Amino acid sequence: NTKAFIFDLDGVIVDTAKYHYLAWQKIANALNIDFTHEHNELLKGVSRVRSLDIILELGNIQASQEDKDKWLIQKNEDYLTYLVDMDQSEILPGVLTILQFLKEKNQAIALGSASKNARPILEKTGIISYFDVIVDGNDVTNAKPDPEVFLKAARLLNINPEDAIVFEDSVAGVQAANIGKMTSVGIGSKTVLHEAKYIFEDFTLIDESFINDLISQ
Ligand code: G6P
Ligand code: MG
Repeated sequence: NTKAFIFDLDGVIVDTAKYHYLAWQKIANALNIDFTHEHNELLKGVSRVRSLDIILELGNIQASQEDKDKWLIQKNEDYLTYLVDMDQSEILPGVLTILQFLKEKNQAIALGSASKNARPILEKTGIISYFDVIVDGNDVTNAKPDPEVFLKAARLLNINPEDAIVFEDSVAGVQAANIGKMTSVGIGSKTVLHEAKYIFEDFTLIDESFINDLISQ
């Protein structure tokens, strides 16, 4: 039995969600927009372009395309400064154990991320070789909650969406998995991710029998 295990990146494999937040906060502050942690939940899993639009909507700001492009570049340059020293220590607890277990079980592993910075992050953290397929922000046109990114990963792995399991920390990502008829596993808060089929605070709480059950279902 082979299933596709599709991992989101930011906030699931690595704790980069905090860096995205800091970088967006700088842009919002410069524009005098109040931008809180709760607002930030709306941006998780969402593309860079869409994230800026949401922030501008929060501040009721209409901007020219030229300004938007400038802020998008600023945001990413700032974000990249946090990644310079990134190494294996930034992998979230329990992730490596799960990846190794899935490999032993000959399961298909994919990345399904909205980020255009996904590959360098997987390289810096030394885990790129675990992934049979990588679908990221460079490969899709529709942002989560559109299921495009996950459907594309499943297709490349030659596995039916119904046989795919998606690990997600964002509301938009959980919705994308559900819309795509995949099994959604939320990683994070039960209140925020209540739409997920299963929810765990982090990967250390997922045991081998849970994975085995998913494989044999
Ligand atoms: C992920 C993150 C978002 C981020 C998006 C685009 O989905 O959760 O916070 O905005 O990727 O990432 P990028 O690295 O391309 O700006
Ligand atoms: Mg995420």
